[in-house]
Amino acid sequence: MAPIANQVRPGISEIQPYVPGLTDDELKRQYGLQRIVKLNANENALGPSPLALQAVREELSTLHHYPDGSSGLLREVIADFHHMTASQVMVGNGSDDLIKLLSETFLDPGDEVIMPVPSFSQYAFGAAIMGAKVHHVPLRENFSYDVKAMLAAVTSRTKLIYACSPNNPTATLLTMEQVQQLLEGMPSSAVLVLDLAYNDYASNPNRVTETTSLFDDPRVVCLHTFSKLYGLAGLRVGYGLASEEVWEFVNRVREPFNVNRVAQRAAVAALGDEAHRQASRVHAVQSREFYLEQAHRLGIQAVPGEANFVLLHTGDGQKTMAALMTYGVMVRAGFPGVEEYIRVTFGTEEENNICIESLEKVLHL
Ligand SMILES: Cc1ncc(COP(=O)(O)O)c(C=O)c1O
Repeated sequence: MAPIANQVRPGISEIQPYVPGLTDDELKRQYGLQRIVKLNANENALGPSPLALQAVREELSTLHHYPDGSSGLLREVIADFHHMTASQVMVGNGSDDLIKLLSETFLDPGDEVIMPVPSFSQYAFGAAIMGAKVHHVPLRENFSYDVKAMLAAVTSRTKLIYACSPNNPTATLLTMEQVQQLLEGMPSSAVLVLDLAYNDYASNPNRVTETTSLFDDPRVVCLHTFSKLYGLAGLRVGYGLASEEVWEFVNRVREPFNVNRVAQRAAVAALGDEAHRQASRVHAVQSREFYLEQAHRLGIQAVPGEANFVLLHTGDGQKTMAALMTYGVMVRAGFPGVEEYIRVTFGTEEENNICIESLEKVLHL
């Protein structure tokens, strides 16, 4: 019999499957730990919005019914929030789902995608499953975007251009002026996907702002998630804003019930929870100050950013990450181009203190 590998679509064998980290229980057993301080996934240290939790409880007795396949109420609430129309909103099973849907909608084998490096890995994953080629454009030395280099990478096959602001993992911003430069310089055949997963944590007046006129240009797609500021990563809800024209096509490749009932209800409630949103922002600002102060005290370089995480220079990120794990502190490292850094998600005050104390021991400071 011919091996199954022969029947698999070209390019699929080269994709490395996502390897999930060990569970808390496995880590505790492996390292003999009582507790894990999880600062590796840019989750919300304050937990989910309490209003969302209440909505989840209320929705549980209806689980025998399918969800609203169009996520109608949620799309209306999101549209109101952004002063747009529901037809300009698409929701997904996390923004990961939307990245995959955009890839399936726009990319043919041999097409090209431009993305910064380092940045969020799912953009390249979406390209790989469609057989598209990725142009990685390095950030500048100070981690700002190199718009000129991004535009120089454009070819007649370029279909998607990604920019993440604040960027994961550097937390640095793409400015509105840079968005305009990208739009002016790129062809009408390409779509600009602005991933704004962490934009709610930013306050720099030059950051990307979604004026309604931005979406008059059908080449603009903005992605958002309920996984960060709203603390609903486990439910999987993200959304995109774009012209109606874009979603009309994306809708053709979307699974009919891509966002579950509980997630839809919880996301509606979370959007109405201004107190939780505000507390999450304040927490991020205070945590950022704490880490910058501590980094200064310890003589470590910190990349000043505007997200719910910080990039710290420790010399060998992977080594520091492994050493921190022995203290029960999980961080991330190994992003291309920033191998000397660790990315630390802001935890509770207690978790942040544990992280810094552990870092001091690990680095013998
Ligand atoms: C920049 C960026 N975009 C998207 C996502 C995915 O978010 P979601 O949980 O909505 O799939 C993440 C998650 O870490 C992220 O960092």
